[in-house]
Amino acid sequence: MGYRDVAARDELCGVLDELDVQRLRRMVRTAREGREGPYGMRFDHAGLLVFPRSVEKALTGVTAGGLPVLRTLPSVVVRERLSLRYGLDRPDVVIADLDAGDGRTVQLFLIADCPGYVADDERIRECETHLAFETAGTRLGVLEAMRTDGFLPDGGGFNPDAGNQGRSAFYFRNEADGERLEVAVAGQASSELSRHLGGADVRRQMLELLTGAWQTQALRTAAELGLADQLLERKLTLAELAEASGCPADRLGRLLRYLEQLGTVGERDGRIWLTPLGETLCRNSPSSLHGVALLYGGLFYDSFGELPSTIRSGTSGFELAHGAQPFDYLDSHPDQAALFQRAMSDQCRDVFDAIASQLDLTGVGVVTDVGGGTGALLSRILDKAPQVSGVLFDMEATVAEADAALRARHGTRIATVGGDFFAGIPHGDLLLLSRILHDWDDAECVGILARCREAILPGGRLVIVERVLPDRPDRASLAAAWDIHMMVNNTAGRERTLADYRQLLSTTGFAITSRSELPLEACLLQAVAI
Ligand SMILES: C[S@@+](CC[C@H](N)C(=O)[O-])C[C@H]1O[C@@H](n2cnc3c(N)ncnc32)[C@H](O)[C@@H]1O
Repeated sequence: MGYRDVAARDELCGVLDELDVQRLRRMVRTAREGREGPYGMRFDHAGLLVFPRSVEKALTGVTAGGLPVLRTLPSVVVRERLSLRYGLDRPDVVIADLDAGDGRTVQLFLIADCPGYVADDERIRECETHLAFETAGTRLGVLEAMRTDGFLPDGGGFNPDAGNQGRSAFYFRNEADGERLEVAVAGQASSELSRHLGGADVRRQMLELLTGAWQTQALRTAAELGLADQLLERKLTLAELAEASGCPADRLGRLLRYLEQLGTVGERDGRIWLTPLGETLCRNSPSSLHGVALLYGGLFYDSFGELPSTIRSGTSGFELAHGAQPFDYLDSHPDQAALFQRAMSDQCRDVFDAIASQLDLTGVGVVTDVGGGTGALLSRILDKAPQVSGVLFDMEATVAEADAALRARHGTRIATVGGDFFAGIPHGDLLLLSRILHDWDDAECVGILARCREAILPGGRLVIVERVLPDRPDRASLAAAWDIHMMVNNTAGRERTLADYRQLLSTTGFAITSRSELPLEACLLQAVAI
């Protein structure tokens, strides 16, 4: 159905003002052009605010008028903008994504019972009309580039209900032609948003950065108190949540207000609900990062307090804070070791799924996962490849912990072996080193890789999973943050560039044959023994 047909439909004219029908027709036409945004950004949608008498009838009408409603969600950003501009009391604004044909979307913002002067003003000034383009969270440099190029910041915000992780919207007006553009980013880009909204307020931006530790602790506390678990699949009042978690309501309410700002919970009509971002703090949700919240806000957090000494002295923050090397410490603290292993496997669920799908195991009989932790990666590989058997190799206590569950799932196809990878590694046709090398310095990596080389025949395969540092230091990368984490929470750990890995591998009798990208900016490096 074409946009010309849309206006011809009586259904639509009956539920929207004639002017809004014309504006909608224009936006459908613009959406269908689907032009590319500045800096090659992909077109996402064309947005328009309209003023029906009834939102429900309008949605039925636009569907009948040839623009099926794909989904609806409450607006946060436009609602706040309207409140501020016209002094409205946080009106209900509904966002409806409409299928405009040709794979394009018009995002309709609908507000019912709106004062006439607001509708008249918006129809003349088009303050909310925009074209949205999408960019990745790692390409936020486009925002600075746009500001430098004369695009004027024109508001924005975070909507926790949009997409899986919520969405950050950065609005700009093009000084040259007055056109309004949105840059849409998945997830909550807090410090970029405050920079965008506060213009050049560098002190505010720095305060956001300096209070990052408070965010870590608020999220860790939510995980520790089980707040997300309480809210999973149900909405609770503050009093109910206070009772369920055993916390005084006043203090809990203050924490929840901050958690709402961080995008993890929402509140409407006195009931608190969990956003998809907040769901990652549940202990047992499929997207859980509960263990990571406890570990990064607990054991590893304490080490970060020693960062200045780590930089100055070369002694790891972990050792300064906890009095032992990390793996020795974990060996004598079983509870923390169990938390560490849970955090490791939770953090990499989608990475492990992608590895199991990508690996070609033709001709491979035995896969040995070196330092394989809980065996989560190995287990996924065995699920995918019934002809393969697996060996989980790690420290004695770690494999003892993992053994029963792995045997229950894979029977005799799996064996667990405890030992020290600096001393010797069991044979495999393919060896996995997932997040092992970044724990150690170059000399120690050479030691581990040399033991790996002894454990396979020429032509045998080695698979390395790590975040690889970009060659250019100005490229945004999670590896830069994890490099600091490795320095603080390991004795001599570090992230490396591809050239660094090539060098380590060629020294120990391997050659890299391929590199492919995995979720969360991890990389799969495949090598062969020569
Ligand atoms: C960062 S974790 C990675 C675990 C797993 N490969 C993953 O990607 O989730 C490092 C692993 O190395 C193991 N490890 C540390 N030192 C070891 C040693 N000397 N010999 C064998 N395993 C060791 C730890 O027990 C831990 O499971």
